[in-house]
Amino acid sequence: MKYNNSPIGIFDSGLGGLTVFKEIRKILPDEDLIYFGDTARVPYGNKSKNTILMYSMEISKFLISKGVKIIIVACNTSSSLALEDLQKEEKIPIFGVIKPGAKRAVEVSSGGNIAVIGTSATIKSGVYSRVIYEEIKNLSKFEKDEFKNNFKVIEKPCPLLVPLVEEGFLNDEITKKVITYYLDSVTKEKPACLVLGCTHYPILKDFISEVIGKDIQMIDSGIETARIVKCFLEENGMLKSDAKIGNESFFVTDDPEKFKGLGEKFLGRAIKSVVVVSQFL
Ligand code: DGL
Repeated sequence: MKYNNSPIGIFDSGLGGLTVFKEIRKILPDEDLIYFGDTARVPYGNKSKNTILMYSMEISKFLISKGVKIIIVACNTSSSLALEDLQKEEKIPIFGVIKPGAKRAVEVSSGGNIAVIGTSATIKSGVYSRVIYEEIKNLSKFEKDEFKNNFKVIEKPCPLLVPLVEEGFLNDEITKKVITYYLDSVTKEKPACLVLGCTHYPILKDFISEVIGKDIQMIDSGIETARIVKCFLEENGMLKSDAKIGNESFFVTDDPEKFKGLGEKFLGRAIKSVVVVSQFL
């Protein structure tokens, strides 16, 4: 049996990737994890492809310098605009969060419309529609027949949600009002499911579910990505060999205390230390 005791690298523009980190920790408790939040440069969702690519490359190289065995791009915006280039550039396996969420949405929607919310950059890239239609093409003839000609992907950018999360407005009325403002038009279309196409959004799951109601299933790409990563490590003999609880390190580009405070609130447990990396600024 082959093993690999190197850590897993996970990155996002800020706190959002912790939603993926949490799912990875749940199903891979022994793995060592390195999390990187680019808190000095968040949000990514209103930036150009070139900028997002440059930031994503810098962070990936940083994580590789720490000896990670794989990288999870725990950011839909970077996954939309930088994943393919990162995979071409680096030798280690790099996973994004778009395909796992899109695949699950196709599985659960049974031909019903699929709604996707995300940052402006993610929605503008059109990546979700593209991947969802690719996934439909891969279905069996019987399953494909469920998707009628009037099937559609409803995409909605929600640019105010990332700053609200990063500022800690997690349980505030104003956040619920903003969610209602964005999602009203989406729920009117009665989609079968709603893909949370930004890793910050699962932090607001309770509010989102109140607004959309119980009939629309929410898809959290963090959960789907964690499953895929676990299978990959198992199939490729890359799991950690010992069954000791994994170590965790956190790096940010600004304000470690703010990240620690909000991160602990979200994870529901203590974060030992957060290290600032200033080399990219
Ligand atoms: N969590 C990132 C995503 O999934 C947020 C991007 C941003 O910083 O705007 O898209």
